Amino acid sequence: MPELIIRRDGEETRVAFEGTPLLNEVLAREGLALAQPCGGRGRCGKCRAELSGAVSPPNEAEVRFGSRLACQAVLLGDCKATLPVSRQMEQIQMDGDLAGGVLRPMPGKYGAAVDLGTTTLALKLYRLSDGRLMGSAGKPNPQGQTAADVMGRIGAALAGGLPRLERQVQQAILGLLETACREAGVPVSDVESMVVAGNTTMLYLLTGTSPLSLSRAPFDAEDLFGRTVPLMGRQVYLPPCMDAFVGADITCAVLASGICQKEQTALLIDVGTNGEIALWKDGALLVSSTAAGPAFEGAGIHMGCGSVAGAVDSVWVTADGRLEAHTISGAPAVGVCGSGLIDAVACLLKTGQVDETGASARPKMTLSGSVHLVPQDIRSIQLAKAAIAAGIETLLREAGIGADEVTELCLAGGFGSHLDVNSAADIGLIPRELTGRVRVLGNASLAGAAALLTDTAQVSEVNRIASLSRHVALGGNPRFNEAYMEHMLFP
Ligand code: FES
Repeated sequence: MPELIIRRDGEETRVAFEGTPLLNEVLAREGLALAQPCGGRGRCGKCRAELSGAVSPPNEAEVRFGSRLACQAVLLGDCKATLPVSRQMEQIQMDGDLAGGVLRPMPGKYGAAVDLGTTTLALKLYRLSDGRLMGSAGKPNPQGQTAADVMGRIGAALAGGLPRLERQVQQAILGLLETACREAGVPVSDVESMVVAGNTTMLYLLTGTSPLSLSRAPFDAEDLFGRTVPLMGRQVYLPPCMDAFVGADITCAVLASGICQKEQTALLIDVGTNGEIALWKDGALLVSSTAAGPAFEGAGIHMGCGSVAGAVDSVWVTADGRLEAHTISGAPAVGVCGSGLIDAVACLLKTGQVDETGASARPKMTLSGSVHLVPQDIRSIQLAKAAIAAGIETLLREAGIGADEVTELCLAGGFGSHLDVNSAADIGLIPRELTGRVRVLGNASLAGAAALLTDTAQVSEVNRIASLSRHVALGGNPRFNEAYMEHMLFP
């Protein structure tokens, strides 16, 4: 019987098959099917894979996309397929039991790892005797009602709101802990240890520390944490931050990625309202943060929305040059979320509805049903992507290397989990050279916090990471300003 060798994430699987199936049919039997937003009609190009051996010649759709498509390519005999990087790799690791390695957990029967984000909070509850995941819970950060971004919250804290912000976030974390414990049938009082990863401002507000030093030049944080404190009735480890605007969430993401344990040069980016970038090269870690604004989270976009049912999350160009879109849950289109926005702009550039300066001839660019983009949305995306791309370029230049010398690009955070890397390169958000070297980490901040909770030996590793870091300021940096102007143009 002929055999298909499947390569994914550095692993190889061999599968025998009968007849002449489509590639995705064989992948589906192994639980490795690629997503088919267009229903396998060869119209979206989202099921791209590398294929060699005895297979059908590329059909019209594959020629159009310049790639083999898992929904079109027919297997005729022995062949080999290389699949895009797994989008959930680290999330699976994070969501599963952590047992397997040596456990040197923090004290107590149970412990919680928390990702304290500006927008959302996520908590996972572990049994510390064996690292088993017992439950999880998440909710929006209630401080969002005060201000959406960190600068707004710093302002509110300095205007007398610090005790309220501190109370709000502590109560929210304790509420998540109660939810997770209830789900697991675990008494809340049995949870003695916690690790809370968050950006520097979030840790200041959590601990009721005045963020004055974060509010004014030269933005030197007085406290970078990296210690255990009594908080919320428990021992809480707050991992080290690297700078006023490169927090413990990024230190934890770097820890979870393992990039600092390898010799190869690697970039890690976490795209959110702030884009944090870390470049590991020759034993040094350059870190930066750049204000991308909330566009990639759908905020400030005319019909932007979060990842809700009906959000346009994928857009492609049909053979006759029209735009087609997929919505979350296949529901009628209600808005467009971050990944859909990147796709949409890439398609509008492809079809010439938007030019390289970002100008568009039409006042409305329809994606699906009544959901459309307006010229101001293109402008917002242009500013956001220019900030990230210029940040990446500044760090690469600081290290004296080009993008082609980066072996791996790690994408951390929710946005990176759903991003189409080809569309991201099409709009100039990430360097084109790196599209084939992407590793999607998922919530790496939470994964790093969980690693610290269950193995205290990781504390010395996270301290090593922080001590190897050097912050590269982008504000007022002529290299950054120059790159920012260049990256305002679409490729
Ligand atoms: S699923 Fe293959 S092209 Fe859309």
